[in-house]
Amino acid sequence: MIEKIKGLLKETEEFVVKNVDELEQYRLKYLSKKGEISTLFGDFKNVAPELKKEVGQKINLLKQSAQQKFDELKDYLEDQSDNTEGTDLSRPGEPIELGSRHPISLVKNEIVSIFNKLGFTVDEGPEIEDDWHVFSALNFPPEHPARDMQDTFFIEKEPDILLRTHTSSVQVRVMQNQKPPIRTLLPGRVFRNEAISARAHCIFHQIEGLFVAENVSFADLKQTLMYFAKEMFGEKTQIRLRPSYFPFTEPSAEMDVSCSICAGKGCNVCKYTGWLEILGCGMVDPNVLENCGIDSEKYTGFAFGMGVERIAMLKYQIKDLRLYFENDVRFLRQFKSAY
Ligand code: PHE
Repeated sequence: MIEKIKGLLKETEEFVVKNVDELEQYRLKYLSKKGEISTLFGDFKNVAPELKKEVGQKINLLKQSAQQKFDELKDYLEDQSDNTEGTDLSRPGEPIELGSRHPISLVKNEIVSIFNKLGFTVDEGPEIEDDWHVFSALNFPPEHPARDMQDTFFIEKEPDILLRTHTSSVQVRVMQNQKPPIRTLLPGRVFRNEAISARAHCIFHQIEGLFVAENVSFADLKQTLMYFAKEMFGEKTQIRLRPSYFPFTEPSAEMDVSCSICAGKGCNVCKYTGWLEILGCGMVDPNVLENCGIDSEKYTGFAFGMGVERIAMLKYQIKDLRLYFENDVRFLRQFKSAY
């Protein structure tokens, strides 16, 4: 019997298969209920008691090894069928889907590149800020009602720490750390405690611009914004400045551009006024310059700030702000652009 086991061990080890039929023959011959190994187990009762231990172990080893061999043969055949045999190599490949940039990134990049041409660089600052950078340094006195204008997210345990409500906080950081002339753009995310709707969101993006040097005037501000408006919305675009108020600029203004959709004739996008409001601006308040360690007798500056979502809405005629944040690919894949 031991000879028989040895013989079977050798046979199974040396067995080769070329296809699944041969594999099935192997299984029937050795592993099936009526196969050689089952027969051995059947004959086991006739083995002399003193040999039972040795023979038993050997049969078990044979069974394991034959099963292992079966698994190996099966893997081998599967690998073979994964091979190119039978595959049509001339078939065109599956297309790789290209991503597209988010409309907010596109518009941000476009705005940055327009101001780059005027020599503006880019600076960034933290989204979690302290009261000083967001409010105090920007001339908001402690009880100033303007602090309520912007519904702020405060950190519960540390009321001095908050999520910035505008990127003007980065103005402060730049003025503290750089010497005039300063000419920079400050893009970033801002946070306000607003109910989410088609027209408002608690997170959005701003781009602020800051220019501080000797003899910077309101005329420079106007010229810069006019250039921007024409580059962004087309050569025929007109601008209009309306007096406004921000604690950190004096004088302050809001800028409208002529509606690029109806060319100023009146449509539902501009609510039949012919104008679209796109940004706030003004001359940097001397107090703000002084708060940041800049000599307000020597230097003057202008600043402006705009919402990227708003500009993108006008550019792409997007009617619902929430689309920017849902990341539905059917929305996203519509944006292809040089930026
Ligand atoms: N920070 C202002 C806002 O969030 C915008 C602004 C920036 C106004 C710079 C004037 C100058 O509304």
